[in-house]
Amino acid sequence: MTYPEFSKISFVKSITDVNNAPDPRLPEVAFAGRSNVGKSSLLNALFNRRNFVKTSSTPGKTRLINYFNVSDMFYCVDLPGYGYAKIPRQEAHLWQKMMEDFITQNQYLKLIYVLIDSRRDIMENDREMLSWLSYIKIPYKIILSKTDKISKNDLAKQKQFYQNVFPDIKIIPFSIRNKFATTSIQKDILNVVS
Ligand code: GTP
Ligand code: MG
Repeated sequence: MTYPEFSKISFVKSITDVNNAPDPRLPEVAFAGRSNVGKSSLLNALFNRRNFVKTSSTPGKTRLINYFNVSDMFYCVDLPGYGYAKIPRQEAHLWQKMMEDFITQNQYLKLIYVLIDSRRDIMENDREMLSWLSYIKIPYKIILSKTDKISKNDLAKQKQFYQNVFPDIKIIPFSIRNKFATTSIQKDILNVVS
């Protein structure tokens, strides 16, 4: 099952400067996380499309802030990944500035989903991202991605770990192979933007 709102999708634009955010301004839901964690793949799953949002097995595919219009109701925003080692220092600096501006100068931003690979331990840059979001009081939820690659038992442990560290934050297991998980995130988004 898919919510009908998610069948009318268009790519709007890529920006690096928040002042160039698309018109009309609509509520925004953004997707952040380490490079290669599965942000663009999650968007394809939500949109029920194959490689509409460009994905890649090589990290660092998404370098810009990409806006997708969903039924003229809201935007889904694919954010560039962090923690990609091959990015030159200069570019990492620009990334940081771009993300800070996007998050702090954006009254339309309703929620950020922070994706973390369910197989991995939490990394320093994930912690930084999450504690920064808590500090500036932007609503966020954690998505544990690629759960098809981990046993049920290990997933339960991971979920518990994150729930202990972030007691007030919703932890959502997700795999692009899991239709039910996709539908429930669609529902979650519609609740936030309407
Ligand atoms: P950047 O754009 O570099 O920040 O990466 P991203 O977070 O957008 O990751 P992307 O969606 O491009 O996915 C990276 C790789 O992980 C691709 O090869 C995907 O096919 C794979 N992948 C993403 N989600 C899943 C999942 O749920 N299960 C499995 N098995 N693979 C996945
Ligand atoms: Mg991407």
